[in-house]
Amino acid sequence: MARALDLARRGPVHGPNPRVGCVLLAAPGAAAGAPRTAPEGPGGGGSRTGESGPVPGARVLGEGWHRGAGTPHAEVAALADARARGLDVRGATAVVTLEPCDHTGRTGPCSVALLEAGVARVVVAVPDPNPAAAGGAARLRAAGVEVVLGVEEAAGRALLGPWLVAVERGRPHVTLKLAATLDGRVAAADGSSRWITSPEARAHAHALRGEVDALVVGTGTALADDPALTARGADGALAPHQPLRVVVGARDLPAGGRLAGPGGDVLHLRTRDPREALAALHAREARRVLVEGGPTLAAAFLRAGVVDEVHAYVAPVLLGAGRSAVGDLGIGTIGDALRLRTREVRPLGPDVLVVADVEEEER
Ligand SMILES: NC(=O)c1ccc[n+]([C@@H]2O[C@H](COP(=O)([O-])OP(=O)(O)OC[C@H]3O[C@@H](n4cnc5c(N)ncnc54)[C@H](OP(=O)(O)O)[C@@H]3O)[C@@H](O)[C@H]2O)c1
Repeated sequence: MARALDLARRGPVHGPNPRVGCVLLAAPGAAAGAPRTAPEGPGGGGSRTGESGPVPGARVLGEGWHRGAGTPHAEVAALADARARGLDVRGATAVVTLEPCDHTGRTGPCSVALLEAGVARVVVAVPDPNPAAAGGAARLRAAGVEVVLGVEEAAGRALLGPWLVAVERGRPHVTLKLAATLDGRVAAADGSSRWITSPEARAHAHALRGEVDALVVGTGTALADDPALTARGADGALAPHQPLRVVVGARDLPAGGRLAGPGGDVLHLRTRDPREALAALHAREARRVLVEGGPTLAAAFLRAGVVDEVHAYVAPVLLGAGRSAVGDLGIGTIGDALRLRTREVRPLGPDVLVVADVEEEER
């Protein structure tokens, strides 16, 4: 399973589909794995630095991982790998990080592919939480395949990360990003806000932009800052993956701003309801969304209980006046404060990034 998890990590972190890995193993002493055509040696595929290598003591017939929507699922990729090596998988064990799907989306059901290949045993880390795709284990069991669920489940869930949250909540996973001074300001009294944080912090934030499906700001920020909302490298070049650029709010956006420049598609959602905005993004297959403010929109998302984590870049800068990072949350007394659970604290040049989860009961 450790190897299957490593394979899964090779998949893209954005997009509508989860990262999944699969290893096909010959049962010890079983006939599975006999060469089909050529007496090609066994192997675990290439291993990369930091990954667990081929499975010791087990004969690996094939390996696969999911490369993103529209490409074969991990199980199908592993079966194809075994075929390409000329190895027979009948009687084999499939070790897979997510329960094989049982539905026909852009590709056919993996449960059927495993059955047709004659796999005898399936070991799974995470049962599929997606009602549209679940049922793979039941179909396999009904056909006489032994299925073991929940092996290394915690590691499997951690790897699925925001995708799992999106499927379980029926809306995209939301990260709220703030770039604030030590005294919690995100703009000076005259509205200027470029730049509060250091190049190191901004580079980190751009890397995160390259991992999400959509980047969201309110009309206030779009009008005040004329942001490009692109993911860029240190040299200013556009990153390979560009998130959908989303502006939320009723006001019109001026034609010809930086949003008209190169980058992801631009979507103006003329609503003030965060849940409605997220439903529209979910329908467009966005699973991970980064809300970048401003303070009014940040407060609206927090009040609606749809923020899963906060990334706060805090710079050793004082302004004393200007907009607070988050607008009015309707909290009147300290006992009602929204308290988050810190997951990570990372120095970035002179700044600090605090990553904190919004606990379930606070939502
Ligand atoms: N340092 C940072 O991290 C950072 C990040 C972003 C922005 N900023 C700064 O923040 C300032 C802009 O802040 P802002 O608060 O005016 O802008 P904002 O939060 O981006 O946008 C506010 C607007 O969004 C619309 N809206 C959408 N949903 C809403 C809801 N549920 N409730 C209320 N309004 C909703 C409203 O406009 P409609 O009338 O159009 O509906 C509202 O006026 C700028 O100075 C910018 O530089 C700083």
